[in-house]
Amino acid sequence: MIRPPFLITALDAAHDRSRFDCGTPALDRYLREQVSQDIRRRVAACFVAITDELRIAGYYTLATASVPLVDLPDPLRRKLPLNASVPAIRMGRLAVDGAFKGQGLGGALLANALRRAIASDIPAAVLIVDAKDDTAAAFYRHYGFLQLGEASREEGGLRLFLPLATVKRL
Ligand SMILES: CC(C)(COP(=O)(O)OP(=O)(O)OC[C@H]1O[C@@H](n2cnc3c(N)ncnc32)[C@H](O)[C@@H]1OP(=O)(O)O)[C@@H](O)C(=O)NCCC(=O)NCCS
Repeated sequence: MIRPPFLITALDAAHDRSRFDCGTPALDRYLREQVSQDIRRRVAACFVAITDELRIAGYYTLATASVPLVDLPDPLRRKLPLNASVPAIRMGRLAVDGAFKGQGLGGALLANALRRAIASDIPAAVLIVDAKDDTAAAFYRHYGFLQLGEASREEGGLRLFLPLATVKRL
């Protein structure tokens, strides 16, 4: 269970990113150096879990995306319109600071992202994630994510998805 006190909110200038260390330098660097520019350019939104001292304990990003219909498994494909692609929301990054791992925060951030995806006035059929390695993919599979596209694995990619209609029913 997630240990309080954490607040999950949109990233703003008052939040302390300087100490964030999730063990993956590229994800730390992105939060420190790149994300504000992506937000300004409207190519991503960033949400953070903060402590009562405004320290960032974890973050994720969301952006709109689309996935080729053929990459979805048959049973789901049959429920969707016959367009070449379907609208999606992409969780581009998800990371928890080492000091806060294993306390349920990663799961809470994922649940928060799903809640936002479902609550949006602009609908998307699936939430997709690009897992950076097998360990990250195992985290997403733990929550029922499925592989997107037959070729994804052979191409070295670990793209996974969750149908949002199912999540909404749950
Ligand atoms: C992956 C990551 C976000 C998980 O965060 P966390 O806060 O440690 O995870 P939680 O404590 O919320 O774990 C929630 C559940 O997922 C499970 N879990 C965590 N990591 C897992 C993994 N790699 N494989 C399978 N299950 C995993 C936990 O056992 C827990 O299960 P439970 O709820 O049934 O008890 C974190 O380890 C991290 O930031 N890693 C580095 C960056 C990264 O790999 N990001 C992934 C996207 S590329």
